[in-house]
Amino acid sequence: MSHSIAVLPGDGIGPEITAPTLELLGELGDFTFTEHPFGGASIDVHGTALTDETLDACKRSDAVLLAAVGGPKWDTTDPSKPRPEQGLLGLRKQLGLFANLRPVRPVPALYDASALKREILDGTDLLVVRELTGGIYFGEKTRTATDASDLCHYTVAEVDRIARVAFDAARKRRNLVHSVDKANVLETSRQWRQVVHEVHGADYAEVQLEDQLVDSCAMELIARPTQFDVIVTENLFGDILSDAAAMLSGSLGMLPSASVGNPDGPGLFEPVHGSAPDIAGQGIANPLATFLSAAMLLRHGLGLEAEATAIEAAVDGALGDGLRTRDLGGTATTAEALDAVRRRLA
Ligand code: NAD
Ligand code: IPM
Ligand code: MN
Repeated sequence: MSHSIAVLPGDGIGPEITAPTLELLGELGDFTFTEHPFGGASIDVHGTALTDETLDACKRSDAVLLAAVGGPKWDTTDPSKPRPEQGLLGLRKQLGLFANLRPVRPVPALYDASALKREILDGTDLLVVRELTGGIYFGEKTRTATDASDLCHYTVAEVDRIARVAFDAARKRRNLVHSVDKANVLETSRQWRQVVHEVHGADYAEVQLEDQLVDSCAMELIARPTQFDVIVTENLFGDILSDAAAMLSGSLGMLPSASVGNPDGPGLFEPVHGSAPDIAGQGIANPLATFLSAAMLLRHGLGLEAEATAIEAAVDGALGDGLRTRDLGGTATTAEALDAVRRRLA
């Protein structure tokens, strides 16, 4: 049976990293790909970043693959103008994808590409579980001539369900969860901490739980990354911490993600990085984060574990063979990266 995958190439390097990813997937099984306008590309044609047609097509698919959206062309400080990023937030919300999984597992072949020392990186294997459809991203926004406001809001139910995702993940890993908040200042964080502890006490008492403030967590991620197993945190903190954590694996161009949480609909699989406008159109973007996101799509979205592992092993193998795109300090193009991974897949 053919799996249907809705494909959203988006903007900037998006189309450049999507095409090789579809080629790679095509070698692993029978998939039907349908591409849809999304983000800035959709604003240009339809005046909105997410049309009903694109949303419906995503809902009907077995899984959604997204590259990246956004860019200077659509950057505006005028709240009445559409932005590509609104499409992404709308898609996550409308698909009910409240849990964003961002695994960080630096491969030894890339230790030299990281800004950190080898002995600090060695043994790092962590998972950021980012709450994705609540918090300050989705609270009421206001703007007048003299002031602006973004409301940060969480319900107990929203915290409860993301905490369970984190504890369940930890049970399959090393049984340790760091819950990251700013409970010394924010009311939403004090509620977060209380709810996480209630869920823990009720159903996950055998998992080790540590509370950590987000500012010191940012420092600890760089200083001693091996101490972390699962990090669970709210939407904005998770966004920031995961880009920092990306440098453990050498480049933002290496980090994949899976947005999940709705058992009745498709998941959304997307690299952590953005549309990289500074290198768009040059054919030099690193496609590996998108390859690895496709692996997460196969595993979490379609239940194809063997195929997912095959992609991950081929990426590791290609890096071991010396594959280095420019972000990793090398000269390989996007097309050469595909060739290198494909050779390993064969
Ligand atoms: P970015 O992630 O696009 O780029 C940051 C830096 O990392 C740039 O120097 C870029 O060249 C580099 N980089 C990122 N991905 C790379 C890759 N695959 N290969 C090689 N180098 C790579 O972040 P930014 O510049 O802050 O944002 C640019 C645009 O992307 C903004 O409009 C932002 O809103 C959007 N964005 C979109 C997503 C998404 O669609 N999921 C995620 C993050 C940012
Ligand atoms: C990400 C991105 C998005 C976010 C933006 C583009 C809306 O930075 O996926 O990490 O902040 O969630
Ligand atoms: Mn981000």
